[in-house]
Amino acid sequence: MNLKDCHNFSDFRKLAKKKLPSPIFHYIDGAADDEVTYKRNTNAFNDVDLVPNVLRGVENVDLSTTIFGKKLDLPFYCSPTALQRLFHYQGERAVGKAAKKFNTMFGVSSLATVSVEEISSLVDTPKLFQFYYHKDKGLNNAILERVKSAKFDVMALTVDTITGGNRERDLRTGFTSPPKLTLASLFSFATKPMWGINYVTRGKFELPHLQDHVQEGTSTATSIGNYFTKMLDQSMNWKDAENLCSKWGGHFALKGIMSVEDAKRAVDIGCTGIMVSNHGGRQLDGSRAPFDQLAEIVDAVGDKIDVICEGGMQRGTHMLKALSLGAKACAGGRLYLYALAAAGQEGVERALNQYRLELERDMKLMGCTKISDLNRNNLRFRNI
Ligand code: LAC
Repeated sequence: MNLKDCHNFSDFRKLAKKKLPSPIFHYIDGAADDEVTYKRNTNAFNDVDLVPNVLRGVENVDLSTTIFGKKLDLPFYCSPTALQRLFHYQGERAVGKAAKKFNTMFGVSSLATVSVEEISSLVDTPKLFQFYYHKDKGLNNAILERVKSAKFDVMALTVDTITGGNRERDLRTGFTSPPKLTLASLFSFATKPMWGINYVTRGKFELPHLQDHVQEGTSTATSIGNYFTKMLDQSMNWKDAENLCSKWGGHFALKGIMSVEDAKRAVDIGCTGIMVSNHGGRQLDGSRAPFDQLAEIVDAVGDKIDVICEGGMQRGTHMLKALSLGAKACAGGRLYLYALAAAGQEGVERALNQYRLELERDMKLMGCTKISDLNRNNLRFRNI
């Protein structure tokens, strides 16, 4: 199987599985506890049907949308995800350059493997930074200043990782950052020699935003669950979020909002957007799917801030449904991560292009030529 055989999300997933040592594949592919929420995030889209209109002259489709004051050519973007150089040696460079090519936004995690300074020099299209609020306040301040100087457009504070999720696949495989060989993982690393060669020869693995402040993740191996539990500040509250928002002074979002009550508070503290998200099912299993929760949140705050639906999307039609409910944009991690693992920048570009083509085709089939044509009349919820 090669890149040219990848026609959809699940093809990219298969190719990623072929290329990655299994602890790394399962880190991307896995989620919390029984992974019920992880599956529900996608299945939620299939409980709603699209109702198309016809005879509307649809030869020109405009997929652009404006979020955080920036016009994107696509109504979806690449969510920030950690440790990308473990998935492909090009890491964040590949995702950033691919996003730039399609003029959409992409996110860089505090746990990224390429620095915000380098990303800024490579990518001049809209960029979001994903902030993890650490116990170490020196680290928090240093990150904020670096991201400001690097002129990122949006700061997104992660609010759904106050403690590590129970990712049982990681417990079984022994996945850590940096990766370490265990008796259990030896075989799987040995069977993916290309990954190993790239890992060893393509520059040192590092977490440039963290390594001057904390050992964990760069020189001390840790699971991501443990990292969150040990390093992040569990006392973080609304006052802290508000302070961070005003210190940042630009577009500010909370990533991981699920309730109407919290969405309203996000408006009150000065956020200009929220990501309705449960962290890809990787934190609280049993949490509702973002898509299921979207309508009530849009109704409450959609006229005041940008509401972004994040998680579970695997198809253009999934995005159409979220946009019809009132999301300003859609976003996802696995959406492009399997493609990154499969073939670096070329893989991400192929995936983004496929979603673009799907959306364009589906918009035509829906009788719509611009994102604002999509609305709730286009949807019917099945009685389940
Ligand atoms: C994760 C974090 C790092 O879910 O986003 O693994």
